[in-house]
Amino acid sequence: MRMANLPTRLARHIRGVLRIGAKAAYASRLASQIEQYRAVENIHELPAIFHYWSNRHLRPRMNRIFESDSIPEFYARPFLAASAACAKRPRFLSLGAGDCSTEIEVARKLIEMGLEDFEMVCLEVSPHLIKRAEAALEAAGLSGRVSVKQTDVNSWQPDEDYSGTMANHSLHHLVELESVFEGVRKSLRPGGVFVTNDMIGRNGHMRWPEVLEVVELLWEFLPRRLKFNHQAKRWDDKFMNLACSADGFEGFRAQDILPLLSRLLGGRLRGCSCAGHPSLASAGVRVSEIHGVWRSHRHFLRSGIRAQF
Ligand SMILES: C[S@@+](CC[C@H](N)C(=O)[O-])C[C@H]1O[C@@H](n2cnc3c(N)ncnc32)[C@H](O)[C@@H]1O
Repeated sequence: MRMANLPTRLARHIRGVLRIGAKAAYASRLASQIEQYRAVENIHELPAIFHYWSNRHLRPRMNRIFESDSIPEFYARPFLAASAACAKRPRFLSLGAGDCSTEIEVARKLIEMGLEDFEMVCLEVSPHLIKRAEAALEAAGLSGRVSVKQTDVNSWQPDEDYSGTMANHSLHHLVELESVFEGVRKSLRPGGVFVTNDMIGRNGHMRWPEVLEVVELLWEFLPRRLKFNHQAKRWDDKFMNLACSADGFEGFRAQDILPLLSRLLGGRLRGCSCAGHPSLASAGVRVSEIHGVWRSHRHFLRSGIRAQF
């Protein structure tokens, strides 16, 4: 039966119950989001393979496209250019700033590049990370320039304007991407920039179906010693296509980010990607191309891989 056919009072009651259920589910996920980094000392810690991959494949593109060789420089360069485009005192915003370690480096880079007088506002939901951010800002002597506000970015509405907004590895935790991007767009000053660096694969950081097929085939040949899951600390004899967003917001809407940004910014999107989904028409190695090669050379590749082990 459709809701429209129900008597009005009953339909209103059911909608109310559904709303309460959705609110409770959101609150529980948010609590698990806050818990995720509570005891993590270094929130940037990633396995060595990430650094091998990003240095080898992303860094050269980053050097070429953004003329930057570090994450702080990647943000500071466009922020500096945007500051010059507007006569007002530069003001920057960071969404999901964590312990502000990246923002501290960006602020230092801006100062090193000659921008002394600016303000940076960092939005973060976790009280634990805010406490650490405030101590780190104090220790870095940046408390006067950089501040942190406890904010759930999913319900954020801008009340100020900005020369530049950044989001470092935080967009893949957000649910209300449409309203967040609209807020960013509305609050940028003329000449302002939105700069982001993120992991944007499939939702929940799962494998795309075509990649999963390749990984599962590889699993047939890999020796057991290579099937140890270091994160979960167990042997994965069968490959687990884990959905990291099952309880919290890790990778919750990762696959929507690039299409939404692309729609928001039209042709003004500059980026480098190394593993975009075919629908994302992004620069770089496309999964569809790898998959095409895999399909046509499957038997040859299988015997080649088998010979390795
Ligand atoms: C992977 S960490 C990145 C932190 C920081 N930007 C950095 O690069 O170090 C993701 C951050 O987003 C924050 N976050 C997640 N959901 C949020 C929300 N709804 N509102 C504000 N912050 C959020 C998390 O608490 C966490 O600090």
